Order: sequence, then C-alpha cells, then structure tokens
Amino acid sequence: MSFTADRLLLFGATGDLSQRMLLPSLAALHADSLIDDNLKIVGTARSDLDDNGFRNFAREALEKYLPANRRGGMADFLNRLSYQPLDATTLEGYQDLAKKADRTGNGLAIFLSTAPSLFEPTIAGLQSAGLADGDVRIGLEKPLGTSLETSCEINDAVAAAFSEDRTFRIDHYLGKETVQNLLALRFANILFEPIWNSNYIEHVQITVAETVGLEGRVGFYNDAGALRDMVQNHMLQLLALVCMEPPTDFDATAIRDEKVKVLRALRQVAADETVTGQYRSGAIDGQSVPGYDDELGEDSDTETFVAIKAHVDNWRWKGVPIYLRTGKRLPERVTEIVVQFRCIPHSIFGSLGATTQPNRLVIGIQPEENITLNMMTKVPGLGRDGVRLREVPLNIAMPDAFVGQHRRIAYERLLLDLIEGDQTLFVRRDEVEAQWEWIDAIRATWNESGLTPKTYNAGNWGPSAAIALAERDGVSWHDE
Ligand code: BG6
Repeated sequence: MSFTADRLLLFGATGDLSQRMLLPSLAALHADSLIDDNLKIVGTARSDLDDNGFRNFAREALEKYLPANRRGGMADFLNRLSYQPLDATTLEGYQDLAKKADRTGNGLAIFLSTAPSLFEPTIAGLQSAGLADGDVRIGLEKPLGTSLETSCEINDAVAAAFSEDRTFRIDHYLGKETVQNLLALRFANILFEPIWNSNYIEHVQITVAETVGLEGRVGFYNDAGALRDMVQNHMLQLLALVCMEPPTDFDATAIRDEKVKVLRALRQVAADETVTGQYRSGAIDGQSVPGYDDELGEDSDTETFVAIKAHVDNWRWKGVPIYLRTGKRLPERVTEIVVQFRCIPHSIFGSLGATTQPNRLVIGIQPEENITLNMMTKVPGLGRDGVRLREVPLNIAMPDAFVGQHRRIAYERLLLDLIEGDQTLFVRRDEVEAQWEWIDAIRATWNESGLTPKTYNAGNWGPSAAIALAERDGVSWHDE
C-alpha cells in the first residue's frame, strides 16, 4: 500500500510523548524539508484547546525539546498544525475530527500515542466517522498490552479495522540511527558474518542502563516493571538484530521474517537464570535520590532492574549465553552490546611469557555511538625478557566519522516512515506475540518460585546477584 499521507492525525497530542518527541520530530523533519509542504497535522486529545492554543503548546514544546539550530521555519511548521478536542471513548466527536482532518483522498496517517485502554474505543470511533476507510495507516505506541493475551486483544481490535500492512507498531529503539547501524555493521562488512556464531562467539551482553527513576510515570511503571517496560520490546529487538540470519534484502518482510525466527527460538528461562531488583535511595552523579517505594508513595514488589541469561536455540547460537540487563537508577545512561569472542585455539606467545585476551566487540548505542574492537597487539620495544602483548581498541567514534550530522530523534525516522508507508522499522504482529510469549513464561516462573526483587542502592549496577549470575559462568559484565 504505497502512498504518502498528506494528513497526520495525532492522538494524545498534548501528552508527554507528543511534547518531548513527536512534535519536535515533526518540526525537525519540516526544518530539513523532509515532509511535503501539503502535509497537515491534526492534533487531538481531551484538552480543550483551539488551533492557536495547540500551536502555542507546540511552540513551547519545540523551544524546550528541540535544539535551536534545528528549529528552522518554525512559524511555517506551526501553521501546519490544527487541533480538535475529543473524548476518545464516545463516538460523538469523531465526525468533527473527520471534518477537521479534511481529507483530500491522498492518504491519512494516524498515530495513537494514548493509553492502550483507549485503542479499542478509538478504533470504533475512527470507523464510525469513516476515518479507517481508504488509504489510511495507523501507528501504535507502546505498551501494546501487558501479556500475550492482552496484546492479542489489542491486535485483534486493530486488525478489525486495519490490515497488518496498514498497522505500524512502534518500538522507538528501531528508530535510533545507532540501532539501524547494527544491520550495516553485520551485513555491509565481510569481516564479522563468518565468525558471528557459536564457533567464535563465547557470549553476548546487552545492557540498557538508565539513571532516571520513575519520572512521574507512577501508575504505568508500577504495573509494568522493567521486564515488560524494557525487555519485552527494546531489548528483544536488539537481541533479534544481533542474532538474526542475514535477510535477503533490506525489506520489511525479509527483515521481520528473520527477526521473528530468532524470537521464536528463545529458550524458556529457568528461575535461576534471572535476577530482579528494586532500587533504594542512593546517589547518582553525586546527587542523592529517593528509593523506589518513596517515589511511588507505597510499598511495591515491582522490579526496576532485571538481568536474564537468555539462549537462542538454533544452529548458529547453540550454547552461547546472551546476558541481558536493564534497570533504572543505575550509575550511568548507557545502551551497549558486547560480543565476546572465544580465545585463540593456540598461543604461539605462551613460551615467551605473553598472554592473550580474547577479542571483544563493543557496540555503543547511546549516549554516543562508538564501536570498539579490542585487539591484541605487541607492546613496542626490544625487551630481552620476551614479547609483551596488550589489548588495544580499534575504535570507530561515529560522531567523529560523520562530523556535522545531527543526532536525530528516533521518532523522526519512524514518523517519516509512517507518513511514507515503510514498515521495515516497525514491529510485526508475530514478533510482538513471540516477544510476549517469552516474557509471560518468565513472569510465570517468577510467580511459581515466589521471586521478589532484591534491593540495590541507586547508583549501583543492580543487586549483587546480577553480578553473580554472570560470574557463575566466569563472565564479568562489561565496565563493572
Ligand atoms: C521507554 C520506557 O520505552 O523507553 C522508559 O517506557 C524508558 O521507561 C525509555 O525510560 C528509554 O528510552 P531511551 O530512548 O531513553 O533509551
């Protein structure tokens, strides 16, 4: 279904995501002339605003969240915006919204950045006003359910009005330039693919560490926890990109076919292969921060940290543990993938007293993209006492390699693809469901074993049991 939409309908337009990410991304696309002049953006939400009120809201959002050097043509951008207040739960109002959208027949893109409980009534409303007919596609922001069952309910409700090729499920990690670069690293270089398997790779680590705490999302986060908030989506997508077979083409179906095979090959995790934690008060960057229960205002068993030893049971990855960890209030904000290669089979330097370390590839996703391959090299010198070897990093610092490039917001890519209809970076239904199936099984294991989160002080790398989880296998988490 290829068309470029000339109408974008933004549900949840006055919400936090819209303010911090969506409006700034659209404005940045406008500033870079990446969206057509005729694209009109209609915001809708409960707030009782008129067009001018929404434009003022958007202006403030841009001033706060978009760097000044990316705000070119802001007045023209604001002129693209209009607004229609709506109670999404009742059918009345959708006709007015349709009138406001003033479709031209050239295609409509809808983005739901609302609570998933509103998806069903919203879809019914869109259908009642003819807004699901014709050239329309819909983007859905997470969380898409809290379990396989609830995710299927949402997917069924969406599917009643929008076929899969018109459904764009967002995982904003896929919009990150650095995440897309994983595909380039793996499949645009000959070096890695021949050794990207259990013969040469000893283990993989994926870390998504955050310094922030609840950030005011009290109810949502406490119901979700780290496993459902971060592992179910972002971390499993990273894992799938690292582990997938080479797709035949850079094409939505080819890439998603390969990712889903990995997700389906995930082995069920045993209780002793996971560790959960919850932060207590502590200090981050020298600032003291309260504990989770204090931020929440009540006692809770929700995990703010999780570490998992995962396995992909297929030919390529048999026997290669994939350690995942994510948490709030950790010492630094860092997302990285570490590929630890095996030792060389035989050292010719042993008799000279030199030891070798196995190679390690560290793919830094954020805050900065930095790809480092640790290599053994000879320490220069004529020493009589033998040869000395040392690990030296071979470094690609992306900001240095591509000077002058903006660091784009992940949603710029995703909104542009939604408007233009490219599904490559969106998550297909079978992927989401495979993700949930694995996550549900972990939660069932936790429930059966009565696992409750261990505590860790804010500013530490999670509970000590997470370190032990890796150490049991002789592995240390990178940079600890
Ligand atoms: C969101 C989670 O999906 O991702 C948040 O709900 C988390 O809890 C955020 O903070 C992290 O995204 P990023 O892009 O800052 O790594």
